[in-house]
Order: sequence, then C-alpha cells, then structure tokens
Amino acid sequence: MKTTILVTGGTGFIGSHTCVALLEAGHDVVVLDNLCNSDATVIKRIGQICNREPGFIEGDIRDSALLKNIFDEHNVNAVMHFAGLKAVGDSVQLPLAYYENNVSGTLNLLMTMRAAAVKTMVFSSSATVYGNPASVPITEDFPRSTTSPYGATKLVIEDILADLYQAEPDWRLARLRYFNPVGAHESGLIGENPRGVPNNLMPFIAQTAAGLREELTIFGDNYDTIDGTGVRDYLHVVDLANGHVAALDYLQQRQELLTVNLGTGQGISVLEMISAFEKTNHCNVPYRISDRRTGDIAKCWADTRLACQLLGWQSSRTLENMCADSWRWQNSLRNSTP
Ligand code: NAD
Ligand code: UFG
Repeated sequence: MKTTILVTGGTGFIGSHTCVALLEAGHDVVVLDNLCNSDATVIKRIGQICNREPGFIEGDIRDSALLKNIFDEHNVNAVMHFAGLKAVGDSVQLPLAYYENNVSGTLNLLMTMRAAAVKTMVFSSSATVYGNPASVPITEDFPRSTTSPYGATKLVIEDILADLYQAEPDWRLARLRYFNPVGAHESGLIGENPRGVPNNLMPFIAQTAAGLREELTIFGDNYDTIDGTGVRDYLHVVDLANGHVAALDYLQQRQELLTVNLGTGQGISVLEMISAFEKTNHCNVPYRISDRRTGDIAKCWADTRLACQLLGWQSSRTLENMCADSWRWQNSLRNSTP
C-alpha cells in the first residue's frame, strides 16, 4: 500500500538511507529535521539517488504547533522516528538535554500523532537497551538495563510505547533495536558525517586511513574475545534501512507492538575490522592500544531469527561491502570539501 511517511531525523545517517529505501519502495516521504546533527543538502542527494526528492521541513519534534500543521497539511499515514541525540559520552555530561530532546520530543510527537489519528510509528531503539548482556547472541527477551542517560532515553521510550499499546491496542508500533550501523549508500552520495572527532569505530578508521587522523586508538585488548579487542555486530546501513520498510509493511497488516533486533548475527572484533578495511581498500590504518573506554562491553551481537521470521528480513551486505562503501563515502567527502 502506498503511503506518506513522516521521517523525523530524515537528514541524519540512518534516516537518510531509510528515505531512499522508502522512496524506492514507492512511498511518499516528508522529512522533519532540525539539522542539529545533519545538513539540508542531504535532501538533494536523496533526490539524485531516487530521481525524486522527499518533502523537507526544517523544524523540531518538540514544536507541537509545527507538528500539528504537518499532520494537517500532509496526508501522513505513518511516522518513522529517528530524531534524537545519540552520543553516549555527551549524554553523561548533558543528561537533561538528552531526556528533554529524546523523551519529551517523542512524547510530543506521540500526542500530536494521536490528535491527528496517525497511529503507526517505527521507532529507532538500540542494542544499548541490553546493557552488558550475560551472553551472546542476544534475543529480544533478554533483560534490559542501561549504562548511560542516552541508553535510559531508549529504555523510557520503549516503555512509553509498550504502555501506550497496552492502553490503546489500535496503535501499530515497532521498536527496532539496531546493533552497529556502518557503511554508506553505494552511490557515495549519502553517509555518516560526524561533527568533530568521531566516537564510533568505522568513521574513525576511515578518517585515519584518509590521513585526517594520525592513528586509531583501540580501547583495550584484554577482553575475553577472539583477539582481546571488543566485538560488535556491524550492520550495513542500507540493510538496516530496508529493515524499516519491512517493519512498516508488517505493521500495515496488523495492529501490534513489534520488538525486533536488527543486526547480522555475526560478531567482528576491532582488529578484524581494521584488517578487513585495509584489505578491502588497499590502505593502511595505523593504530595503538590504550586502556578500555569507560562503559564499553566486551561483546555484543544479535540473534536475528525473529526479524527473519516476522519480517522476512535479513542482512545481505558483507563486511567487505561495509568497508568499501565507507571508504567511497570518506573519499567523496574529501573531494567535496573546498
Ligand atoms: P543522526 O544524528 O545522524 O540523525 C539524527 C537526526 O535527528 C539528525 O539529523 C538530527 O539533526 C535530528 N534531530 C535530533 N534532534 C531533533 C529534534 N529535536 N527535532 C528534529 N530533528 C532532530 O543519528 P543516526 O545515527 O542516524 O541515528 C538515528 C536514530 O537511531 C537515533 O534515534 C539514534 O539514537 C538511533 N540509533 C543509532 C545508532 C547508531 O549507531 N548510529 C544505533 C542505535 C540507535
Ligand atoms: N573502538 C575503538 N576505538 C575507537 C572507537 C571504538 O577501539 O576509536 C571500539 C570500541 O571499544 C568497541 C568497538 O570499537 O569495542 C565499537 O565501538 P563504537 O563506538 O563504534 O560502537 P559501540 O558498540 O560502543 O556503541 C554503539 C553506538 C551507541 C550504542 C551502542 C549499543 O554508538 O550509540 O552501540 O547499541 F549505544
């Protein structure tokens, strides 16, 4: 069924790739983003990839009047909700800003949706809700906990959605728990563009390979893992975007509260990632080992069976695809800088 989807945070990393997937699936898209961590040129780039642009409104999910206008003026059927602040370290320094933006923003969005009788939302949750898991792979029924205010905002929003569904079962709600999204669109037109020093591994590797950073710091090599470095479930962002379209299709068939992991089910260590990046892209990533980063866990990867069973979705892109696409994007950023 063709629908109009409001994509909050749609100029960001995952939102922009999901706009492409939605447009390619034939949906109409309206993006709402306050550009606090992205820029509006992304809209034109999405247009270049898809031969049609999404609508764009620069604004904030905390602005009730603006949201009401959007629902009045566009025939929105569903909301994909990516807008939020996401830096774990910043959230420790700025907890109120994180709760206000992520939790108050989401509440405001949900209340405006209800007033407009739009009752379908796909929400960006995170594997961070599993805290430090007792074992791997992680299934959706693992206990939830958190180590940061950022993680706490995801837990609270997950609970709000569960309580809402309990009280009003005519909602269609998805809580998608992403593992570690990396890579970029294969066109080289959209990707992740972190402001300042990247916190995450893949952009740091790409910037180091490009000579923008002297060396990568590996946070600990004495974990109980294959080679002592941290192990994560890295997932290509285009696969992740396609998972959103699958979740939307699923919700269009039923009124449900859906909770699923989106990952590959495969754990990759920091050293394995460096090696794959160097080999795929014929480049060099100098590194040094330092102490563990506070709050990091040893290993985390998804049990992906539920997503496959319910959504018919599984990742298809390889580690080499992730490395090649990240590198292409890194180079296109360099070439577009005056
Ligand atoms: P991103 O920062 O690239 O995108 C988020 C977008 O939301 C940005 O464009 C930002 O400008 C916008 N935004 C923030 N607050 C807003 C507000 N109040 N009103 C309107 N727009 C606002 O981040 P991303 O990596 O694309 O992440 C998208 C979502 O997925 C986030 O909710 C994030 O917490 C979640 N998530 C991300 C990861 C990851 O590793 N990238 C992992 C798990 C979950
Ligand atoms: N790492 C390094 N050096 C770096 C950056 C990362 O060694 O410069 C290591 C980390 O110690 C970890 C692995 O690379 O072992 C991955 O680190 P990321 O920061 O890329 O990813 P995390 O798994 O730590 O965090 C991500 C998201 C969080 C989210 C979390 C759980 O960034 O928002 O997954 O879902 F909370």
